[in-house]
Amino acid sequence: MRENLRVRLTIPSQEVQEGAFVVIESGEWLFYGLVTDLQLGSTDPRFADEQSETRLPAEMAALLHGQTLYTTLEVLPALMLERGPDLSSPDYATWQAEHGEGLHPMPVKTIPPHHAEVRLAEEGDIAEIFGKKEDKGNFVIGYTREQGHPVCLNLDKFVQRSAGVFGATGTGKSFLTRLMLAGLIHLNTASVLVFDMHNEYGFDDTASDTHVTVIGLKTKFGTRLRVVALGAGSLIRGLAPDLTLEIDEKDITPGDIEMLMRELNLRETTPTTLEALVSDFGQGWFKAFRQMRVGAVIETEDGKKFPAPDSVAAWANSAGVNVMAAEGLRSKMQRVYNLEYIREKPSGNGIDEIIKTLEAGQHVVLSFFDHEKDLDYLLVSNLLTRRIRERWEKLTNDFRSKATDEPHPLVIVVEEAHKLLNREMAGQTAFSTIAREMRKYYVTLLIIDQRPSQIYDEVMSQLGTRISGWLGDEDDIHSVLSGLAGRDALRGMLAHLQPTQEVLLLGWGVPMPLPVQSRRYDQNFWDELLGKNKGKISAEQAIEDLGF
Ligand SMILES: Nc1ncnc2c1ncn2[C@@H]1O[C@H](COP(=O)(O)OP(=O)(O)OP(=O)(O)O)[C@@H](O)[C@H]1O
Ligand SMILES: [Mg+2]
Repeated sequence: MRENLRVRLTIPSQEVQEGAFVVIESGEWLFYGLVTDLQLGSTDPRFADEQSETRLPAEMAALLHGQTLYTTLEVLPALMLERGPDLSSPDYATWQAEHGEGLHPMPVKTIPPHHAEVRLAEEGDIAEIFGKKEDKGNFVIGYTREQGHPVCLNLDKFVQRSAGVFGATGTGKSFLTRLMLAGLIHLNTASVLVFDMHNEYGFDDTASDTHVTVIGLKTKFGTRLRVVALGAGSLIRGLAPDLTLEIDEKDITPGDIEMLMRELNLRETTPTTLEALVSDFGQGWFKAFRQMRVGAVIETEDGKKFPAPDSVAAWANSAGVNVMAAEGLRSKMQRVYNLEYIREKPSGNGIDEIIKTLEAGQHVVLSFFDHEKDLDYLLVSNLLTRRIRERWEKLTNDFRSKATDEPHPLVIVVEEAHKLLNREMAGQTAFSTIAREMRKYYVTLLIIDQRPSQIYDEVMSQLGTRISGWLGDEDDIHSVLSGLAGRDALRGMLAHLQPTQEVLLLGWGVPMPLPVQSRRYDQNFWDELLGKNKGKISAEQAIEDLGF
């Protein structure tokens, strides 16, 4: 069943657009599909070529349109649902006894007959497939483009696999992510940890295009969410974070440096050198290496030069590693040694605090403050994620073997994900492990990116839910659709989305692909989510509380 269905249009073509959700009724079955194309057709090409409007009398021309000349839709059938005999039919009771309550849409395995009637989906049809607003875990993510019917995403399902939000710059990824995070936090579906590279998600922000205030998650969720800033003394837009994060140099492992291979332009000899450092100095390797000097020599009285005892060369010689390799590594690591938030004796244990917060079901936005370089982002996010991964694996194993509490699901949000999940890094970062297998351990990623083609394909094809705004680049479109059925039809749909605030919902997390208009992130959204009078006690309530 690879062929699309062809449907002849009996209503004005302006009322239907590419991507419209349609229902085909055929006896006891309902078919649900997407319009993938609109074309002009004619039973006889001569009439199509002639300007019948001007050459024929008006009534004749009108007859011709719709009869001989018409519009056809191409429909990609996606799901079918057995609705059984008519409610009033005597067979209904038997059918219902066999099928039970609740209808379950399934992928199409057959096609409706010729001349079956096709109609645009109504609100009820959409709720039937995408779920009702009121049901547990459901969150309205957007509205159908033709008639504005709400479309839900089930967040319980959403967090079971890693997911992605894609789209060219300015298509609304960050706004959509804010919406979804608000939903996840409000419904208590999962803890969220946001690696907030551009300080967008915690405190209120100003939209760069409209200059309107964009409400931050901290403003609405208060103590349930902690804003953590990287580096002591950081103020984010004049506001003090709940916690500052400094990293203990003992927490840096050789793996954290190897992961910076491309960023620091390291050589293949790096792992060998690092291994020797750890074998000589154990956990203190990072500090010991910091104290070694490159090129330090001592000169004897007769003018001979030897490596000074505190030089890299002296250590390399004693450890039996290549001197040039060790000196090269030490020079390149200077950028890491210059990072002021890596400390010998940091104030507090920020990493443990963050992990505790998340374990308790609360949320963390980690603001990179002014440490916005790729080096900061790669090093810190990977280090923290590695620690989280170890912790959640332990929690899960304890839960399975010792029947402790079930771990709270965690979603890690990464902007500019290709920096962490590109082909070269994929084997080395904690992120790719999570994308591939951590769903078993209750941790998944929400990756946000404008260049999905730069993300390793193996990670892309593992993504459960994909939400994509407009993409212009063929390679980007190709990777968003990787591993999905019906790619040809979906490709066109992605390329034809509005440049902003329209997204295509795709993948395992949604029952079928559907383009929607994104929900607006504004005051109205918060009123709908939290209730209008949240925080304010109504007059009646106040009187009641006083005991009247
Ligand atoms: N759901 C929405 N509700 C309200 N406004 C929106 C929404 N989506 C997008 N916008 C508008 O579009 C602009 C761009 O959106 P956003 O910043 O989310 O884009 P982006 O895809 O994250 O871009 P970049 O890749 O450059 O970060 C916003 O400043 C806002 O004005
Ligand atoms: Mg953005």
